[in-house]
Amino acid sequence: MAIRNIVKDGDEILRKTCRTQMTFDDRLATVLDDMIETMYAADGVGLAAPQVGILRRYCVIDIGNGVIELVNPVIEETEGEQIEQEGCLSYPGEYGDTRRPQKVTVRAQDRTGKSFTVTGEGLMARALCHEIDHLDGVIFKDRLVK
Ligand code: NI
Repeated sequence: MAIRNIVKDGDEILRKTCRTQMTFDDRLATVLDDMIETMYAADGVGLAAPQVGILRRYCVIDIGNGVIELVNPVIEETEGEQIEQEGCLSYPGEYGDTRRPQKVTVRAQDRTGKSFTVTGEGLMARALCHEIDHLDGVIFKDRLVK
């Protein structure tokens, strides 16, 4: 495993739409392992592939109760609303209140290609929405509550 550089504010890669991950091979596993190590080293709760310079649809999340890997994640259902402070490893030192669903259900694949669904509430719902946004070039600052 290796720590990768996190792409920072100003890099246009953060604004691009990522492509579907079609292969579930050792290369994907290596990148996911590196992303998890990088996320922990940066003391973050989530990291998306474009943040390490890869324009593919996957991300990792750990809000403190174990890591989850989401390949080709899609939000299937949302419920309620929350407004809480949010930040991003690509925008160090910047925080702001954003509006997110209170609860979301996401369908995704694991590193072997197997489909699963995950439902998250509160911080987990926020993390899921934040990381999936990254895959479409959307950052938390686009969703600030004025
Ligand atoms: Ni982020």
